[in-house]
Parts: sequence; C-alpha cells; structure tokens
Amino acid sequence: MSDGSASRAAAVRAVAGVIGRGQSLETALADPNVDPADRAFVQALAFGALRFGHRLKLVVGQLATRKWDALTPELQALLLVGLYQLEYAETAEHAAVSATVEAARRVGEARAAGFVNACLRRFQREREALLAVADASVGGRTSHPAWIVDALEQDWHDQAERVLAANNAHPPLTLRANLARTTTEALAAELAEAGHETHAVPFAPAALDLGRPTDVRALQAFVEGRCSVQDAAAQLAVPLLDARPGMRVLDACAAPGGKTGHLLESVPGLAEVVALDVDPLRAGRIRDNLARLGLAANVVVGDALDPTAGGPGLFDRILLDAPCSGTGVIRRHPDIKWLRRPRDVSTLADRQKRLLAVLWERLAPGGRLVYATCSILRAENRAVVRAFLAATPEAAEVTESASLAVAGLPPLPAARGPGLTLLPGVAGTDGFYYACLERRQH
Ligand SMILES: C[S@@+](CC[C@H](N)C(=O)[O-])C[C@H]1O[C@@H](n2cnc3c(N)ncnc32)[C@H](O)[C@@H]1O
Repeated sequence: MSDGSASRAAAVRAVAGVIGRGQSLETALADPNVDPADRAFVQALAFGALRFGHRLKLVVGQLATRKWDALTPELQALLLVGLYQLEYAETAEHAAVSATVEAARRVGEARAAGFVNACLRRFQREREALLAVADASVGGRTSHPAWIVDALEQDWHDQAERVLAANNAHPPLTLRANLARTTTEALAAELAEAGHETHAVPFAPAALDLGRPTDVRALQAFVEGRCSVQDAAAQLAVPLLDARPGMRVLDACAAPGGKTGHLLESVPGLAEVVALDVDPLRAGRIRDNLARLGLAANVVVGDALDPTAGGPGLFDRILLDAPCSGTGVIRRHPDIKWLRRPRDVSTLADRQKRLLAVLWERLAPGGRLVYATCSILRAENRAVVRAFLAATPEAAEVTESASLAVAGLPPLPAARGPGLTLLPGVAGTDGFYYACLERRQH
C-alpha cells in the first residue's frame, strides 16, 4: 500500500523546479512518472505550497539555523510542502508529517529527513507563536514577496489588501461557450446533464463559471469544441475590439489562441484574421485550439516588432495582448510570486511600448487597436498608454465609450485612466487591463 510519500515527493520536485530552477509550475508539474491517480493531489500540494509559501518561508526562517538561501531547493520545497499540509490542507497531520519525511529520502535529501521531521513537529507544537512572527508584515500575512506588496500599495492604495487576499483565493473555472456551435444556455443544459452546476457571468454573455473544478478534458462539450476555458475578464477583449464582418484583424500576440478563437466564434464573416506569435511551439497551440473549435485563421510565426510580420496591408482591428508580468492572474499562477523579479516590470514595459508603437503603424485610419495585459501594475498599463498617447496625436483613447457598449460591465473607476482595470476579486474575475485606441481619420 502507498505511504503517500510518492505524491509528496512529486509535489516537492515541482516546487523545487519553480523556486530553485525558475521553471514555470506548468512545466515543473509535467512529470510523466507521476501516477495519474495522484495527479490532482500533487497539483493541489504544489499550488498550495507556492501560494502560501512566502508566509511559510518566514516560519522556516524561525525553525532552521541556516538561512533560507543556504538550504537546497529540495529542502526548501520539503519544508514548504510539509508546512502547507499542516496549516492549510485537510490531510491528517500525522500522515502529512510521516509522508513528507519519507519524501525527503525520495528526493535525495535522506540526510535531512530528521531535520524535516523536527521542523514539522516543532511547528505542530509552536504554531501560533511561529505564525504570529510571520504575520507581522503584510507580505508575510498575505504571502507575497515584499516588492509585489509595495507595487500594489503604490498603485492601488486602500484596494491593495483586497487584491492581495484575492490572489490567494481559488479561482473559478470559467468556460466560454463557442457561439458558432452552441448557445450559452444550451451549454449550461449540457453541463447540467453531465452533473456540473454553472453560473452565468453578468458582463460576459458566453461565460459560465463551473461550481466545482473539473478536468475539462473529460467534458464532451470541451473535446467536441463547444467550449473553451477562459476567464471572464479575458472575454472582454473581443467586445472591446468591436470587429465587424468584412474587416481584417491582426491578433498580434495570439498564442495559445484564446482570444483568436473567441473572435472567430463571435464575429462571422471577417475578411481575414492573422494570428501572430513569436513562439513556434505556442503558435502550434493556436492551431490545435482552433481545430478543436472548428475555426480557421491565418496562423503565422513571427515577431510583432517586425512591421512586416503577418504580411502586408493595414488592419481594421488590432489586438495587442502583450506579454506582461501576469500580476493580475496570480490566483491561477502562484508561481508568478516566485518567478517574477522587480526589474522585470520595467523590461516588460519597454517591450510593451515598442510593440504598441510598431503595431500602431499597421492600423488603418478609423481603425481600433486594443491594448491588453493581464497585469494590474500601472507601469505596464496606464503609463504605457499615456506615453503612447503623448507621442501620437492621431490616436484617440475610446475605452470609456467602448466599455459602455459592453452590457453589464461594472463602471470604470473614475480618474484612473486611460484604460480600464479589472482588479482580481472585485468582479470575481482575474485582473486585466484594457485600453481602446482609435486612429483618427485625418
Ligand atoms: C499574454 S500571451 C497571449 C495570450 C493570447 N492572446 C490568448 O488570449 O490566448 C502573450 C503572447 O505574446 C507572445 N509574444 C511575446 N513577444 C512577442 C512578439 N514580439 N511578437 C509576437 N508575439 C509575442 C508570447 O509568445 C505569448 O504567447
């Protein structure tokens, strides 16, 4: 019979991959040796340990005589996975301790097994005092690195705490009905028949939140292309783009094709959709996703900074869903807390500015470009768009009127523009930023 140490060891390897080797959690979890029956548990342990790891790391600081950085990534991960189970998971505590200690042997840390055992047992005895010390700072209490706390407090003042809390919540699994093949109501009925309760989302007519998380690959509606997975905030890109039949559209950073698919499902009769991405592997995922949905676009591998990528001619609509810090989607990707560095933000902002400037030149007079990120940092959003507007007299910012056309959208926070920011947890969505920019005719 399994002693549970194999699943703990798999979670420890994944967490060590993120915190020690800079891998994304998705990559770190893709271990073919994990027993399929254990996958969901391994995933829950790794997500939880990373989500609450900045708080637990402050506990480790009190338990270990060596500094955090002097511990191997495996030992760091063993302690985070062990403490996570004791403080947050529903696992029986004695099983959590013994399986994690046993996991130390499986991940090459046999010599540290006694130390792991001692740390976890001391936490059981002195939990309150140890956590009180960790919780003395906002970063500890909300389990975020200090630089993210500082950046959110600077940008969002009294809303920062709410965002920090939302970043640790379990996100809903939101589906998007493929309106070219079904209706939202018919999809809800199909899912109900399969035993899944769903909830509509006020401003995203094709969206359905699933009451309980599930593996979508097991849903017939997903396999047969009647739905995709997409947060409701991301489902705003297409209505804000407002493409019409006959138009040429460039989706400039398109992979894995979530918004390309939504566009093609919602607006039949477009003249052309070019789905561009610089990453060939990710561009392959656009093709796969469109094939599953029964849709077609001109998928091109190329650099959006190259003004000829995707072919000649101007576009009536351009979507720039720019590479960003992902600070709006931390609840889905807790590895962002560990992988992002403060200096990344200015590097990303420079790239975002360059992408916006180059793509603007490809927009037809009277056309609209939507600049989007899943960041909630002003340096990547408002500051990028402000600098662009200051340098581009022929650009008009039309986010407010564009968003008024989206039924049910909560009102824009006044005086925070240009652009529209959805904060995580406020409307139940991921954090997202949109700015709609039109090229004046003359
Ligand atoms: C936020 S993701 C796009 C998500 C996508 N729009 C969706 O809804 O599924 C950003 C994408 O930009 C791509 N990218 C980054 N730099 C790029 C560039 N210079 N040219 C084209 N694509 C780029 C990345 O490979 C990544 O796939």
